Amino acid sequence: MNVLVTGGAGFIGSHTVDKLVSAGIETVVIDRSEPKYKNDKATYYRLDLNDAAAEDVFKTHAFDAVIHLAAQASVAVSVADPVKDATDNVMASVRVIEYGKKYGVKKIIVSSSAALYAVPQYLPVDEKHPVSFLSPYALSKHAMEEYVKLSGLDYIIFRYANVYGPRQDPHGEAGVVSIFIEKMIKNLPLEIHGDGEQTRDFVYVADVAEMNCRAVLSPASGVVLNVSTNTQTSVNGLFARIKENTDYTLAPVSAPSRAGDIKHSVLNNALALKTLGFKPETALTDGLKETVAFFKRTY
Ligand SMILES: NC(=O)c1ccc[n+]([C@@H]2O[C@H](COP(=O)([O-])OP(=O)(O)OC[C@H]3O[C@@H](n4cnc5c(N)ncnc54)[C@H](O)[C@@H]3O)[C@@H](O)[C@H]2O)c1
Repeated sequence: MNVLVTGGAGFIGSHTVDKLVSAGIETVVIDRSEPKYKNDKATYYRLDLNDAAAEDVFKTHAFDAVIHLAAQASVAVSVADPVKDATDNVMASVRVIEYGKKYGVKKIIVSSSAALYAVPQYLPVDEKHPVSFLSPYALSKHAMEEYVKLSGLDYIIFRYANVYGPRQDPHGEAGVVSIFIEKMIKNLPLEIHGDGEQTRDFVYVADVAEMNCRAVLSPASGVVLNVSTNTQTSVNGLFARIKENTDYTLAPVSAPSRAGDIKHSVLNNALALKTLGFKPETALTDGLKETVAFFKRTY
């Protein structure tokens, strides 16, 4: 089997590449960034998907499946620069789909987001929950989903909750877990917005990589699946658990709530379990331990 991972130099992509390679799958990456965590057994092309040269990679390799992870992954960037967001998240996705159709790709697996659920009408949110759009990012991910559904290719659309784990960049637009861990291992002050009782569904990156790998191997097609733990953790609770794994001595600084922040989010993962025979299973305590150990080695 021969699989392309777009965005394979990124956080989730690098773990997905490792998982595919260890399952004995021939793995090729297209990413415009230099990989920090390169797998020696994968083949890397440093290219923007919007460059014409990306088509040659499809022509050369005749992929069985594509896992499309390349995207500008930040809600804030999408608000500041919707053109960049649409270029990376819509145009590049359309190109991947069109090359897939032209060069005989059998299945495409794409990474969408819980951002499509906006402010949830009920919890836990299942895949039947209506979608709505609080940012250009949510809109561009939804456009990608609809292009995939129209393509005629076999597909699985994943909607990820908050992914965390080793290799997540703590700078720029990082997730709260990596921002907290970097500050706490360095004993630097950190801010909690609002009362800290807002909740999220934190899913460990190795489980996300496992889902991507299973999606490639499974005959399942034509489905939208949440990738989540179905567990709510508050930001205060997250802080307390990371504190247990570090020597942090400071109290968190209280900051105003951020405009547009959602109070509670948790995603039902029953359909993923039923469809792929797997749901994210790493306990937050274990995932955080691994992540703190990685950050201590790296930063
Ligand atoms: N991390 C999360 O919590 C989360 C949650 C929901 C959805 N997602 C989605 O999962 C996917 C992976 O996210 P991540 O956290 O690993 O992000 P990441 O930024 O670490 O990885 C994305 C990679 O895509 C590459 N890329 C972007 N645009 C490209 C283009 N036009 N051509 C070639 N390469 C390009 C970047 O260089 C980067 O290496 C994204 O689609 C993101 O929207 C992530």
